[in-house]
Amino acid sequence: TGMTHISELLNDDSVGKRFTIRGWVYRIRSTGKLTFVVMRDSTGIIQVLARGDRLDENTYKEIEGMTVESSCEFTGTVRKDERAVTGYEMDAESFRLYHRNENFPITRDKGEEFLLDNRHLWLRSREMTSVLKVRSTIFRAYSDFFYENGFYQVQAPMMVSTAVEGGSTLFKVPFFDEEVNLTQSSQFYLETMIFSLENVFTLAPSFRAEKSRTRRHLTEYWHGEAECAWVDNSGMMDIEERMIVYIVKRVLEENSDDLAELKRDVSKLEKVKQPFPRVRYAELMKMAAGWGLGLKYGDDLGADEERAITVHFDRPVFVTHYPASLKAFYHRPDPENPSEVLCHDLLAPEGYGEIIGGGERIWELDVLLKRMEENGLRPEDYYWYIDLRRYGSVPHSGFGLGMDRLAMWVMGLDHIRDAIPYPRTVRRTRP
Ligand code: 4AD
Ligand code: MG
Repeated sequence: TGMTHISELLNDDSVGKRFTIRGWVYRIRSTGKLTFVVMRDSTGIIQVLARGDRLDENTYKEIEGMTVESSCEFTGTVRKDERAVTGYEMDAESFRLYHRNENFPITRDKGEEFLLDNRHLWLRSREMTSVLKVRSTIFRAYSDFFYENGFYQVQAPMMVSTAVEGGSTLFKVPFFDEEVNLTQSSQFYLETMIFSLENVFTLAPSFRAEKSRTRRHLTEYWHGEAECAWVDNSGMMDIEERMIVYIVKRVLEENSDDLAELKRDVSKLEKVKQPFPRVRYAELMKMAAGWGLGLKYGDDLGADEERAITVHFDRPVFVTHYPASLKAFYHRPDPENPSEVLCHDLLAPEGYGEIIGGGERIWELDVLLKRMEENGLRPEDYYWYIDLRRYGSVPHSGFGLGMDRLAMWVMGLDHIRDAIPYPRTVRRTRP
């Protein structure tokens, strides 16, 4: 027989049949004559029963002597057994050991720092396995959405000489005899590509030298970005709304076991339907006063404010028309009130806050040059970005989605570092 994955054995069709499985020891206990091994592979777990009186002595000793995370292979017949962890049990008939290890160092009681230092081993936990599976669905659904809607996937450089989101969070790294920045956003490069492709998206890391140690900041995070020619601020929100609904639906369809493992309240995700409320920043400030939040027009929204706001919504909410002073230079001023910009942040519910930042871009040359000057930016550094407003400029909009923040919210996690396999934070670059 060939190899079978464990999840394929957990049903009545497999009862009475012989299979071979391979994987890792999840739990093991012995009563002398009987050894119960719970085996784990990428698909699930199943109990294997090894009987001293049915197997030859050496084989039985080898099985009995295994440790948690040892790797091995069993062939045996499947039986239904209510007492077994997943309701089925395999009766071991033959066995092959690949690697018997010393005591596996990981136990849940070791504390967060220890688990982070040993992330390479902790990733084998049931919990992290589920996180990685949900994350895989999210990344796939994100790309599928754009391919299904006529977008092209493009790639931008990670080593750049310009800043998109201001100088204060730039990582500078040596580059031969010069210095280069790690990209904060691929937005400007995506903007250059709409002139040939009209609708583009990318999925890449972005880097922020964020000193802030919050639950939602990484120094390296995965950034899903898209840019569309001929689309305005509200048209962009229409696209994002459909994208978020699509991704959440795919996770609900494909990862119900994982969401259960993570104890996620799926009723919260089932409410993620169109349309998402759209609230102007000025309006939100008035609402905030009614909720007793000490916010006034002109205040930026940090994690705490967003948490206090989003508990009042049962689905993601767009906040639009921020004061220009709170946003980066490239946002298009509202022609009806140039002190505000045609932008939007999408705040995830249940206190999670900002997962998307986006909006309409300035597409008129004179307006862009004026905003750059006000922000102290040198036109020569951005010559290629400015050129886009010189040759066939068109109205256009785009957004950036924090994939790890999206994953954190979808899975209901407390900290962004648990949404990514190898988190990079202010204090952590290992493993
Ligand atoms: O709001 P941000 O800074 O917007 C931009 O970078 C735009 N240039 C994107 C665009 O329009 N193409 O970042 C976009 C999103 C945020 O909403 C947030 O979800 C995520 O990126 N993000 C972070 N995620 C994790 N850790 C950090 N330090 C993050 N900084 C931003
Ligand atoms: Mg933002």
